[in-house]
Amino acid sequence: MRILSIETSCDETAVSIVDAVGVFPEATYSVLGNALLSQIDIHREYGGVFPNLAKREHARTLVPMLTQALTEAKLLTEAPRSLSQQEVEELHELLHREHGMADEMITFLETYENPKIDAIAVTSGPGLEPTLWVGINFAKALARTWNIPIVPVNHMEGHVLASVFTGYNLHTVALPALALLISGGHTELVLMKDWWTYELVGQTRDDAVGEAFDKVARLLGLPYPGGPEISKLAEDARTRELPQFADLPRPMLSSGDHDFSFSGLKTAVRYAIQEKELSNDERAALARDFEDAATEVLLAKTAAAFETTGAQSLILGGGVTANRHIRSSFTEHFATEYPDAAVYLPESGLSTDNSIMIALAGHAHIDNALDPLSASSLINADGNRSITAK
Ligand code: KG4
Ligand code: ZN
Repeated sequence: MRILSIETSCDETAVSIVDAVGVFPEATYSVLGNALLSQIDIHREYGGVFPNLAKREHARTLVPMLTQALTEAKLLTEAPRSLSQQEVEELHELLHREHGMADEMITFLETYENPKIDAIAVTSGPGLEPTLWVGINFAKALARTWNIPIVPVNHMEGHVLASVFTGYNLHTVALPALALLISGGHTELVLMKDWWTYELVGQTRDDAVGEAFDKVARLLGLPYPGGPEISKLAEDARTRELPQFADLPRPMLSSGDHDFSFSGLKTAVRYAIQEKELSNDERAALARDFEDAATEVLLAKTAAAFETTGAQSLILGGGVTANRHIRSSFTEHFATEYPDAAVYLPESGLSTDNSIMIALAGHAHIDNALDPLSASSLINADGNRSITAK
């Protein structure tokens, strides 16, 4: 089973081709092609992701990314042909909102033979609806012309699978597993009782932790996205053992439930800075103090949820798991407190958004694939799609 996967939920345009042999979750996978383009440089000057700009960029880059991934997979053969008038009209209709994409897609389809792909997996949510729609319409157009089915994928489930992927197969996860999903839009604790059966245990009441990293970075005058910038400064402060700059709160630490709140922490950082011009050392120390506070809350609340749910293993997923301090704090704490429990973290390159994880989740739900005609009306972008929804 060869899957073409597409991810456009935020500011990464990603297309992969993954070969799956066997049945989920015992299958083995080979990544045949993987093309990923980050729009960070485009959004940086605005200090955040601008949905309509992101949408236009996805529309501009999807066909080139598809070409790149298929070339890497050695699946492209030139075979010039003409699409029928009806096919051309359908493509224009499907892609009429995606600026310039229909003509590019038609040129692509008229240049190459249909590649040997069995199904398309596409992120349908959660994420930014305008950008999700570009990926979905692109998937529908390809599926229609190649006459293959489409599986709509939940982006957060993709993050879960990215964390348990070895690069070749999936770890044998002891269930129930507790998943802490931390990204730019989400901070949630989810109990995975079985594959596909998720129960929401706790979530943020305001900002997501990645959002807090990004906002604090802006307060410190660092470029977007702030997570990696804060993490670099904080690491420097740790190496040089800089003294504490601010005594920051640990919000919701003893709230008695499994929810989070990060907006107060961000406000505390703003108060700590006030109108001062911080020295480089002070900025680094404050970045470290913030990272310490955020990590401590995430870890303590996750450990508490691990106890109450009786989980057997821990999965950490989402872009914020690229943070080295968070990774090591969790692995060290769990190795000491729960030596029998496995802690799964994404391998390098799979923490932040990518399409390999979308192929894995697509394979997991291949039974729900829709034929290209029903996909047209049944697959929609859902910006708030929950991982717990069926
Ligand atoms: O999962 P992701 O790529 O996109 C969403 O689905 O939101 O996560 C992006 C988030 C951003 O907020 C970014 O600042 C954060 O992950 N991030 C990090 C690090 N790398 C990315 N946060 C902390 N430390 C990092 N090293
Ligand atoms: Zn994500």
